[in-house]
Amino acid sequence: MPVIAVVNRKGGSGKSTFAAHVAAWCARQGHSVMLGDVDRQQSSRAWLKRRDPALPQIAPWAMDQKNMLRVPTGITHVVLDTPGGIHGFELARVVMFADAIVMPVCSSMFDRESAAACHAELMALPRVATGRCRLAVVGMRIDGRTHAGRVLADWSQGLGIPFLGALRETQLYVRSLERGLTMFDLPASQSGADLAQWAPIIEWMLPILQPLQAANDPAPILTRVSRLGTSRPESLMPAQEALIHGSRLMAASGSRASEPAHRIPVRTLPRTAGEGAQIPQFLKR
Ligand SMILES: Nc1ncnc2c1ncn2[C@@H]1O[C@H](COP(=O)(O)OP(=O)(O)OP(=O)(O)O)[C@@H](O)[C@H]1O
Ligand SMILES: [Mg+2]
Repeated sequence: MPVIAVVNRKGGSGKSTFAAHVAAWCARQGHSVMLGDVDRQQSSRAWLKRRDPALPQIAPWAMDQKNMLRVPTGITHVVLDTPGGIHGFELARVVMFADAIVMPVCSSMFDRESAAACHAELMALPRVATGRCRLAVVGMRIDGRTHAGRVLADWSQGLGIPFLGALRETQLYVRSLERGLTMFDLPASQSGADLAQWAPIIEWMLPILQPLQAANDPAPILTRVSRLGTSRPESLMPAQEALIHGSRLMAASGSRASEPAHRIPVRTLPRTAGEGAQIPQFLKR
């Protein structure tokens, strides 16, 4: 089960925005994806509540009989959104579960300093240092063609972290998220320029999210249609076995709220964990 974690201890760097987009991309590919916060704020859950049920669905944590949050049964992909300030044991626990960590970084010196400290802490963890958990940087709210974009790319490469590209600053992100949408849910006529910026990011994640397709399929990333059979139970790390499944997903068809960039089956998700649910034990502060 691929697990992508979005990490940067700097608050407001775009983690939740990025995580929502990765989850929506997975959903549009037909994967049964869960988007979960690892803090009590549960802002991703609030965003999921705004999402039209007719859109490709993204599951939140499910809650088991012991009031613990679990990955629902049937989920094949997990995206973890993390809070600003994450460090120490809490960060190490996320790394134990993650196949890849993406750090969204803004352009200021303060953002880079904070991200460098986060990177140093990550590199001290064996899973990251040995490459079992991959790490990359994405520029957030940056025009990649500007000096600021080049500075960030050089900084990232100087630290030896792959720089996947930059996402521009646009109110389209803000407005989309307010409606429970992402760029991947908008008509291509609205989001085309932004989807192009996502292409190299998705390309980097593809061997983790869709290992078989990444090896065999030469089709352009943003025009691929959904396929089944993408989970990798044989590659489950021992630490990931603690991401215990709860209840089963049911497949169903439905209509779209907007004309999508990519057509995929719509899924009906299980009853979601309610307000006040417990944070998973392994992620508790
Ligand atoms: N590319 C973008 N263009 C314009 N606004 C953006 C962009 N990305 C994120 N934002 C806005 O920046 C703000 C912070 O983004 P977000 O909440 O994703 O950051 P965060 O890292 O999750 O914050 P926190 O550390 O508080 O959890 C939000 O208002 C979001 O809508
Ligand atoms: Mg956030």
